[in-house]
Amino acid sequence: MQGKFITLEGGEGVGKSTQARRIKEELGRRGIEVVLVREPGGTPLAEEIRRLLKDYADDAPNARAELLLFLASRAQLVENVVKPALAAGKWVVCDRFSDSTIAYQGYGRGLDVDAIRRLDAFARGGLSPDLTLLFTVDAQEALRRRRGREIATATSADRFESAGDDFHARLERGFDAIAAAEPERVKRIDASGSPDDVWAKVAKEIFDLRFFDF
Ligand code: TMP
Repeated sequence: MQGKFITLEGGEGVGKSTQARRIKEELGRRGIEVVLVREPGGTPLAEEIRRLLKDYADDAPNARAELLLFLASRAQLVENVVKPALAAGKWVVCDRFSDSTIAYQGYGRGLDVDAIRRLDAFARGGLSPDLTLLFTVDAQEALRRRRGREIATATSADRFESAGDDFHARLERGFDAIAAAEPERVKRIDASGSPDDVWAKVAKEIFDLRFFDF
């Protein structure tokens, strides 16, 4: 049986990675093998692309180059890791996927959203998530968390985390539009509580509402 593909989406500092690990643990307890990946990244080449995207300051990619680098990372991850895992009956949980590209490169950077959709469909070779959890916090809380992360890591934030507040507001609009257009696939999770509060909402979505046939 083909496995299921779950993606986690949202702005910066909404706690997706913590929830991704808990999903893996809980599915594991139910005997389901889960492959946890993140984008950009997840293969040696894709991790190298991630490094270029995050830290390469000397000749930082312009908006279109940036888009194509994210899509190159996606093509490599989907073909080499995600599709084989799903075919082997494993489930894949991916921290960010195509919706981030629409939100960040489309709404954030202002590239044409229809063009992004076409290029993205090519990059992911037709693979679509079975379920997407969209983590949201209000603008004030999001700002507080971003600032907290900068202090906690004692490093300067990367290019996206340090983008202006306007940029982050556009991202939210992008994610809202995606969720409104595809309510069956995209479920909103209010991520403003503690990790345990948020986990209760995630677990409800995946296990209680029986999105999947366990
Ligand atoms: P993260 O692992 O800390 O979430 O870092 C990934 C960064 O890359 C984050 O700022 C979102 C951004 N991003 C895009 O701009 N476009 C994309 O397609 C993806 C997957 C991520």
